[in-house]
Amino acid sequence: MRKGDWLIAGLLGLVVVAAIGKGIYDSKNPIVDKGIPFYSTASKSVQLAGADLYRDIGCRDCHTIWGVKNIMETVPAPSLDGIGSLRTEAWLYDYFSSKNPQSIIPTRLKAKYAMPSYASLPESERRVLAQYFAGMKVKNWYLQDVRASEYKKLTGNPYPKK
Ligand code: HEC
Repeated sequence: MRKGDWLIAGLLGLVVVAAIGKGIYDSKNPIVDKGIPFYSTASKSVQLAGADLYRDIGCRDCHTIWGVKNIMETVPAPSLDGIGSLRTEAWLYDYFSSKNPQSIIPTRLKAKYAMPSYASLPESERRVLAQYFAGMKVKNWYLQDVRASEYKKLTGNPYPKK
């Protein structure tokens, strides 16, 4: 064979080896359905009261929970699924009580789309909201994905590698 023929044969050989390798890899690593990654650890009463507040106050006009989005709204606010794995109850309470939530998380949105202050809500409602969202957990395997995508949504930058 001439030089060029050897090259082609070599390349074909590589393709075949790669295809076999991928077949073996795929058969050893089947795609498993790991199930829904979100769950709540809040008590039943907090879950009910929290869900009512979430709906009545209008958090859902901007946010998503349980993967459900208000299709009439287009505010790019973060999903709150799994937020309790990222933030503590105390943090959430302070955030909801802040007169200026943007001093805690800066926004890159227009003021009317940014997180409003809920400092004027009754303390008991801010407590329930903090408990409700602190109980919204995400399984570990999903956490890293959420972190990265929320970071990108909020900052416009890719999540920094450690
Ligand atoms: C007008 C739209 C809007 C409404 C209404 C709204 N939010 Fe937000 N929220 C945002 C945006 C946007 C952010 C991201 C920070 C920013 O841009 O101000 C945010 C951030 C948050 C965060 C922090 C998320 C994180 O990454 O730590 C929590 C928690 C939160 N909101 C909960 C709520 C709750 C609870 C309500 C209702 C009581 C609510 N939000 C109502 C727009 C909204």
